[in-house]
Amino acid sequence: MDINLVSWLELAIRWLHVITGICWIGSSFYFIWLDNSLTAPEDDKDKAEGVSGEVWAVHGGGFYHKKKYQVAPAHMPAELHWFKWEAYFTWMSGFLLLVLMYYFGANLYLIDSAKYALQPAQAAAIGLMFIGGSLLFYNLLCESRVGRHNLLFCAVWFAALTLAAYFLNQIFTGRGMYIHIGSMIGTVMAANVFLTIIPNQRKVVDALLAGEAPDPRLGKMAKQRSLHNNYMTLPVLLIMTSNHYPVMFGNPYNWLLLAGMAASGLLVRHFFNQKHKGKEDYFYPLAAGALFLIVVMAAMPQTVAPKADGASVQVSDAEARAIIRANCVACHSDMPTHDVVTSAPQGVMFDKMSEILKFSDRIKARAVDSDTMPPPSEPAMSATDREKLGAWIKAQEK
Ligand code: HEC
Repeated sequence: MDINLVSWLELAIRWLHVITGICWIGSSFYFIWLDNSLTAPEDDKDKAEGVSGEVWAVHGGGFYHKKKYQVAPAHMPAELHWFKWEAYFTWMSGFLLLVLMYYFGANLYLIDSAKYALQPAQAAAIGLMFIGGSLLFYNLLCESRVGRHNLLFCAVWFAALTLAAYFLNQIFTGRGMYIHIGSMIGTVMAANVFLTIIPNQRKVVDALLAGEAPDPRLGKMAKQRSLHNNYMTLPVLLIMTSNHYPVMFGNPYNWLLLAGMAASGLLVRHFFNQKHKGKEDYFYPLAAGALFLIVVMAAMPQTVAPKADGASVQVSDAEARAIIRANCVACHSDMPTHDVVTSAPQGVMFDKMSEILKFSDRIKARAVDSDTMPPPSEPAMSATDREKLGAWIKAQEK
C-alpha cells in the first residue's frame, strides 16, 4: 500500500481511537469517583427502597443527585443506560492500528533483525500469541486463589507483564515491545468489559426482570474486573504516549523503565481512589513522583553512544552531511529513494544544511542518544558514525 494512503487511514483510525478512548476512560473514571464518593442516604424513603449510597454534585449550571441501589431498584426503569461501546470501539480501533502500523509495517516498526531475523508474518504471529496468551493467563489468575487478594494479584500480574516486556524486547524493536505490552493490557481491559462485566450485569437485570434474586457472585466478579481496569488505565496511557519518546522505548533498559514508570502510575491511581473515599494520603503521589524521578535519573545516562560528547573528536560539516546522506536521506528527503517510504516521514527532511540544523535536536534524540533511527529494517548505522554525528551536533551548539 502507498505510504501516504496508509498515513491518512492511520490518522482516521487513530482519531477514532483517541475519541473512544477518552469516552471510555472518562466514563469509567467518573463512575469510580461516584462509587468512592457515595455517602449513606439521608432520606428514610430511599433507605427503604434499597438505596445504599448517594452523592450530590454541581456541574455545568445544574445540580445532580445520584443514588446507588446496591442490588437493584424495586422496578426496572423504562430506560437503562449501559456503558460498553466506548470500550469496544477503543479496542477495535486500537487493534486495527496495531495491524496497520506494526504488522503491515513490521519491517519499519516491529522487526529488529539485529535482535532476531523474523519474517513479518512470524513477528505478527508472535505478537498476536502474546496478546491472546496474556488474556488467557490473566483470566486464569483472576479465577485462581491469587485473584482473591488484590495486592498479591497486582504483584503477580505486574511481574508477568514485566517478564513479557523483557522477553519481547529480546526479539522486537523497543517500540514494538512497548506497543505489545500496551495491547496486552488494553485487550485484557476490553475483554473484562465484554466477557465479564457486561454479561454479568445482563444476567442480573434478566434475573430481576424474571422476579428472581440475582446471584451475588456475578456482581462480585464484575467488581473485581472493574477494579483491575481502574488500575491498568494509567500504565496503558503511558505506553501509548511513550510512542513519541525514543528516550523511553530506545533505552537499553526500556523494559525496566516501563515497569518503574507504570508502577508510579499505579501509585497515582491509588492516591485518587483513596482520596475519593475521603482518605487523602500524600505518601502515594510523593512516592510516585520520587519513583518517576529515580527511574528517569537511572535511565538518563544509558544512551547508546555515551562517548559522543564531542570532547575529543573533530567532525567537519561535510563529514556530518555525508553521514546523514548515507543513513537518513533515502527516506528524509524531498524526493525519497526508498522503496517503501515514498514521502519524507513526518515532513522531516535533511536535504539542506539548514534543515539538518533545524532538526539537530531530533537527530540527536533518534540517532545519537538512541538508535531508533534509521529504522532497524535499514542497514545498521555504525557506532562510530553515531559518535561523530553527536560530536558534530555538540560543536554546533557552542
Ligand atoms: C527507512 C526510512 C528511514 C530512514 C533511512 C531514516 N528514517 Fe527517520 N523516520 C522514518 C519514519 C518512518 C519516521 C516516522 C516514524 C517515527 O518517528 O519513528 C521517521 C521519523 C524521524 C524523525 C521525526 C520524528 C522525531 O522523533 O522527531 C526524525 C527526527 C528522524 N526520523 C531522524 C532520522 C535520522 C537522523 C536518520 C538517519 C540517521 C533517519 N531518520 C533515517 C524513516 C526513516
